[in-house]
Amino acid sequence: MSRQRFILAAITAIMAQPLMAAHEFAGRDTAQGQVLYAENCASCHGTNLEGQPNWRTPDENGILPAPPHDETGHTWHHDSVFLFQYVKFGGQAVMDAMNVANFTSGMPEFGGTLSDDQIIDILAYIQSTWPEQAQQVQASRTQGH
Ligand code: HEC
Repeated sequence: MSRQRFILAAITAIMAQPLMAAHEFAGRDTAQGQVLYAENCASCHGTNLEGQPNWRTPDENGILPAPPHDETGHTWHHDSVFLFQYVKFGGQAVMDAMNVANFTSGMPEFGGTLSDDQIIDILAYIQSTWPEQAQQVQASRTQGH
């Protein structure tokens, strides 16, 4: 099995899990998510979710700086499954699985260090900081969950 096929199979398996089927950000432990965010994500995405400067401009190696997770970024444009997979498998695996060519991701995978529950708590914390309207848009893009 090629790496790409393996990742696709892994993603399909994940999506079939009950955890993802019932995957709402509501009712999660956002306080725990905030602590885990500070420990694992803030170094790149910023203590206040502000991201890195000039986050739309790739560096000399073609890698993007970390985008903000607050409402000025695009995290709330993505459905929950995409966000979960981006954190669990890392940006490169998700982009490869989506056949996005010529993209080198700067987003590490956390599947080896964080549990699924911890990842969802972090995403729920991030989501809890968005204005109501952004939360609604994000929820509407998450179909069947
Ligand atoms: C080493 C720096 C780094 C760390 C640490 C990091 N990220 Fe990222 N992240 C990035 C970069 C760079 C991108 C931009 C897209 C890319 O390069 O794939 C990104 C993109 C993302 C995206 C998709 C784009 C978006 O706006 O939604 C999500 C979701 C995300 N990161 C969540 C997290 C979470 C949650 C953590 C902590 C568990 C984390 N990241 C830790 C660098 C990092």
